[in-house]
Amino acid sequence: MLQKLRDILSSHYAPMLQKDPAVLNKLLESPKQSGHGHLAMPVFAWAKEMRKAPPVLAQEFATRFSADKPQGLESVTAVSGFVNFTFSDRFIQDMLSADILGSRGQVGFSKVGAGRKMVIDFSSPNVAKPMHIGHLRASVIGQAIVNLAKTQGYQVIGLNHLGDWGVQFGKLAWAYMKWGSEYDFSSKPFESLYNIYVRFHDEAEKNPELEAEGSKVFKRLEDGDPQIRELWQKFVDISLADYQRIWTQLGIKHELVRGESFYNDRMRPVEKMLEEKGLLEESDGAMVVRLDDENMPPCLIRKSDGASLYATRDLASALYRMQELHADLNLYVVGVDQTLHFRQVFAVLKKMGYPWVEKCHHIAFGMYRFKDARISTRKGNAIFLEDVLAQAVELVREVIKKKNPDLPNAEQVARQVGFGAVIFNDLVNDRVKNVDFDWDRALDFEGDSGPYVQYCGVRCLSLMRKFGKPVPTKFATDLNTPEERELFRILLAYQDTLRNSFDNFKPHMLAGYLLDVCHRYGAFYTRCRILGEPSEVESSRMTLVQMVHAVLQEGLGILGIELPEAM
Ligand code: ARG
Repeated sequence: MLQKLRDILSSHYAPMLQKDPAVLNKLLESPKQSGHGHLAMPVFAWAKEMRKAPPVLAQEFATRFSADKPQGLESVTAVSGFVNFTFSDRFIQDMLSADILGSRGQVGFSKVGAGRKMVIDFSSPNVAKPMHIGHLRASVIGQAIVNLAKTQGYQVIGLNHLGDWGVQFGKLAWAYMKWGSEYDFSSKPFESLYNIYVRFHDEAEKNPELEAEGSKVFKRLEDGDPQIRELWQKFVDISLADYQRIWTQLGIKHELVRGESFYNDRMRPVEKMLEEKGLLEESDGAMVVRLDDENMPPCLIRKSDGASLYATRDLASALYRMQELHADLNLYVVGVDQTLHFRQVFAVLKKMGYPWVEKCHHIAFGMYRFKDARISTRKGNAIFLEDVLAQAVELVREVIKKKNPDLPNAEQVARQVGFGAVIFNDLVNDRVKNVDFDWDRALDFEGDSGPYVQYCGVRCLSLMRKFGKPVPTKFATDLNTPEERELFRILLAYQDTLRNSFDNFKPHMLAGYLLDVCHRYGAFYTRCRILGEPSEVESSRMTLVQMVHAVLQEGLGILGIELPEAM
C-alpha cells in the first residue's frame, strides 16, 4: 500500500538528497488529483532554504530522480512546487493483490501501536435504566475505535464504567422492598426494575418524603448493610444481563466492568492527596478544587452532606487506569454534554502534577436529533436503543418481503442490514457533530448508507459466484482503464485511512472511505465489462472484484457491521 511506496522512494532517494529516510517518508503525501501520480513531494520548504523558485527546484529534482529510478517507479514529473511519482500499473497491481489477498483478514494492519496499551471507557450505562439512543453512539463509536486500535497493534482494554452507585440505589431498594412483590421479577426482571424505578419517581413527585426514605436506605447501603447490599447486587446483575443482550447483538465487548462503585474506597485517598497538595477548599460546606485560573467553575469533590461525586470517581478512575492498568492512552467515549466535566477532571489531574494527563482524552460525540415520527418512544422522550434496532430490522424485513421474498436466511440478513444501517448512519458523521436521524436516509440502498456499502460487497460476491471457479489471487494482465486505475488508487489508501482514522479517533474517516470505494467500484462496474471478456481480462477484473470485496468486508467489520452473503 502507500506506505510501502513511501518506503521504496525514501530509502532509494535519501542518500541522493542526503536526508534521513524517515524525514523524506513523512514528506510524501497522496496527491488529491489522480493525474498527479501515486505520491507527491512538496519542495516549498527546501526551495526557501535554497533560495530557489519551487517549480524550478521541483523540475531539478524530477530530472535527477528520473535518471535513477527504483524498481517499479515509472515516471517522475514536476508540477508547480511538487514532484510527482507514478508507479507502473503492473507494480501497483502485484503489490496490492499480494497485500490484500495475501493478508488473511488483516489488510492494512500495522504495528505502530505494538507494545502499547489503550484503555477505553465506552458504552457505560446506568443501572436500572434501559440504554437510550445516546448510548448507541457511546457504543458504536467506542467499539469502532477499539477495532481501529487493534489494526494499529495496540493492546486494548475496553472498560464499562457502569453507573452503579449513588442515592438512586437507596430509592430502588426502598421501592423494591415496598412494591417488588407486585412485579414479575422472575420472567421480566429488567422491565420490572425499570418500572419500580419510574414508579418511585412518580410517587416521589406527589410525596416528597419518599426522597428522604431513599436517602436513608442509601446510607444503609453505604454503611454495608448486607440485606441492602444483596439487593444492590441483584439490581446490578439484572441490568448487566439486559445490557449484555444488546451488546451481543451489536458486537460490543468490554474486557472489564469497573463501575462507579469500584472506586468507593479509592475516593478518600484522592481527597487526601488533594488536601496534601493544598488544592482542596471549602465552599458553602462542600469541598472543591478551584479552577479559576483555567476559567472553569470549581470541580466539586465532596457535597455538603458528605456524598462524593461523579467527578471524584473520575479522578480515581483516571488514577486507576494510568497507574494500575498502565495505560499509554486513556479514552472516554462520552457525549459532548459532559465536556466541562472532563475538562475539569483533567485540569485537576494536571494541578495534582500528573504529566500523563496528556494521554487522557474525552472522545466527545454530538447528539441525535429526531424528526421521524416512526421512532417510537415508550415513556417521556427517552428513545431506547433497543426500540431503534428493532424498528430498523422490521423496516428491512419489509423491504426484503417486497423485493426479494425468496432470499435465504432472510431473518439473519434483516438483522445484518438493519443493524448495519443504524451503525453506519451513526459512524458516517463526524462524531463531534449532531446526527439528524432519518430512516429513509439510513436505509437508502442507493444513497450513502450502510446498506449501500453492504450491497456493493454483496454484488462483488455474487459476481464471484457467477464466475464459477476460484478467483486467481494474481493478475493475468494489466488493468489500465481510467476507472480501474482510480479503483487501484483508492485501494492503495486503505492502510493510511485506518491509521488516520485511529490517530484522530474518528471512525467517519473510514466510513467515508468505504463509500468512496463503492462509488469507484460502481464506475468501474458500469464502464468495464467483466464476465465474457477475453479470459485474461475477465480473470484480472475478477481479481480486482475480490480485492474490493475483501476491503469492504474488513472495513465494515472494523465499524462493527457484517457483510451478508446475499441481500
Ligand atoms: N454512565 C454515564 C452515562 O450514562 C457515562 C459514564 C462515562 N464514563 C465516565 N468515566 N464518566 O451518561
